[in-house]
Amino acid sequence: VSPLRLAGAALLIGGLPALLFAAFGLAGAMRGGAALVGLLLSLGAGAVLAGLWLTSLDRLAAALRRASADDQTASEPPPLPAAAEVAGEIGRLARALNRRSEEVLRMRRADAAILENLPDPLLVLSEGLSLLRANRAARALFGAAPGQPGDAPAALRHPAMAAALDAALASGEPAAAELLLPVPVPRELSARVIPLDPPLFDGGRVLVVLVDRTRERAIERMRADFVANASHELRTPLASLIGFIDTLRGPAEDDAEARARFLGIMAEQGERMRRLLDDLLSLSRIETEEHRAPTGEADLALILRAEADGLAPLFAARRATLAVTAPERLLARPAEADQVAQVVRNLLDNALRHGREGGTVRATAEPAAGEDGRPGVVLRVTDDGPGIPRAHIPRLTERFYRVDRGRSRAAGGTGLGLAIVKHIVGRHRGRLEIESEEGQGATFRVWLPAGTDGPRPA
Ligand SMILES: Nc1ncnc2c1ncn2[C@@H]1O[C@H](COP(=O)(O)OP(=O)(O)OP(=O)(O)O)[C@@H](O)[C@H]1O
Ligand SMILES: [Mg+2]
Repeated sequence: VSPLRLAGAALLIGGLPALLFAAFGLAGAMRGGAALVGLLLSLGAGAVLAGLWLTSLDRLAAALRRASADDQTASEPPPLPAAAEVAGEIGRLARALNRRSEEVLRMRRADAAILENLPDPLLVLSEGLSLLRANRAARALFGAAPGQPGDAPAALRHPAMAAALDAALASGEPAAAELLLPVPVPRELSARVIPLDPPLFDGGRVLVVLVDRTRERAIERMRADFVANASHELRTPLASLIGFIDTLRGPAEDDAEARARFLGIMAEQGERMRRLLDDLLSLSRIETEEHRAPTGEADLALILRAEADGLAPLFAARRATLAVTAPERLLARPAEADQVAQVVRNLLDNALRHGREGGTVRATAEPAAGEDGRPGVVLRVTDDGPGIPRAHIPRLTERFYRVDRGRSRAAGGTGLGLAIVKHIVGRHRGRLEIESEEGQGATFRVWLPAGTDGPRPA
């Protein structure tokens, strides 16, 4: 306490009684000595009281300062009991406020953790539409590191998104946008823009919820393509059948030689339609049961020899050689023998039809551990035909996909054979690998598990 403040306060408190003592003494109402003692006592008492008050007030002020600065250290109590009580209350209030702010902090952290871990990508934007936060899903979507926006700004600049942001901020109502982002990989996103009023604690004014629809849209397109492809494949032989029927009814009515030739072609076209329908049906059957694992077992060696024998006349017709290497017995399990036979047939058929006329096809079956060390069996079919250009290999197992449409169709193919193989191998939890160098032939490798325990009861 500064002496000047102390003197001022002491005068304020003891000044009036001191003045009265002085007046009484001078007027002779009191004896001079008594008046002087009274005057000094008044001033002394004033000084002591002022000291107590000022110290108490200073300590209260210090307690308040500490409370507002969130300082938990204990302070010296004020000397006056009433002031000490007030200081105690200040301490309690400070602690209560502290608890409250800790609670708020915890709630904020919980909110942030929820946003961070939601499975849908979320962006939080400021009033000026700059990016404040992106949760984990959004960072994964936009290839961003924490604290880095990745290509989120590109999505925010998309015209449809910009329009939705403006509309949402202007109306205060949520708005939606569909975005197509071409780079770095094409993606289709649905965005929902939600204006936040009042804003979030970090100034977040707009929440953008994104849904990645790329896969969904691709499946929709595939389904539409499938129907279009299937009808197109059926339309060609059908148009040819109708054409020949018209010709036979009209101009060629009495031409026995033409009739015989046309009927031959018609039978061929009918056969092609039947094959296509068979393949479509078998594909859809395999697809519907793909999630159910097979239960029996299949002897790959036996099946390979049987299918090779069945195709021998066709190989002979193309002057091609089929060399089979297989042990006596080679069990795949769990496996369905019919489906394994279909895999073998489709691969041998491809090697025959897409391989070289007069070429050699090697088919081998042998035991082989899988990638994860599981016991298994492997079938390898290698031809020395034209091979498959690298760019086409990943797409060969798509339905109706053919490297050379014209040539495959001329060879009677529909482009479903490898799609069927893929689904059967998938159902058996096996693997299909295709290797080819253009001009050097192709190798198709199918691995199937061979569990050591016997066949499970059906
Ligand atoms: N061994 C191979 N050598 C070269 N190309 C091949 C071979 N096997 C398959 N292909 C290519 O892959 C495409 C798809 O094969 P897939 O077996 O699915 O259909 P496909 O043989 O044309 O008709 P199908 O439905 O009658 O089997 C073929 O059209 C062909 O272009
Ligand atoms: Mg085929």
